[in-house]
Amino acid sequence: MVSFNLNGRPVSVDAKPDTPLLWVIRDQIGLTGTKYGCGAGLCGACTIHINGEALRSCQTLVSDIAGKSVTTIEGLSPNSSHPLQKAWVQLEVPQCGYCQSGQIMKAAELLAKTPKPSRDQIVEHMDGNICRCGTYHNIIAAIQLASKEG
Ligand code: FES
Ligand code: FES
Repeated sequence: MVSFNLNGRPVSVDAKPDTPLLWVIRDQIGLTGTKYGCGAGLCGACTIHINGEALRSCQTLVSDIAGKSVTTIEGLSPNSSHPLQKAWVQLEVPQCGYCQSGQIMKAAELLAKTPKPSRDQIVEHMDGNICRCGTYHNIIAAIQLASKEG
């Protein structure tokens, strides 16, 4: 059993130590907002927060998160009220949507540490979160909007 905090609640899961956290979150716990893209740490679709740091859950072993706090897109805010979520809706950022929870979780890490980032800081921070639909322009605009309202 591995015990950790997930979106503010204690959870314990029965999983092999080398199970990627992504599959524990999706298959065992049933929170499917975190996406499986590449499974190799290359796309960012599976981004979640561990103790406030944006990390790739496909590359995180469940045994490494014992006693830590994990936040998924479902736990970012109680009612989709995070400034990023509101900005995402206002600017209609998603196309297919597949990469977007990872994008928002990555962006949330930035705003938590740097509430008023420059455009260059946004681009640098978001580098590595891939969007096959090419929504990068809207992602940057939404982060800028959220940083004004946050
Ligand atoms: S699914 Fe984890 S980085 Fe692509
Ligand atoms: S919105 Fe389709 S991959 Fe990003």
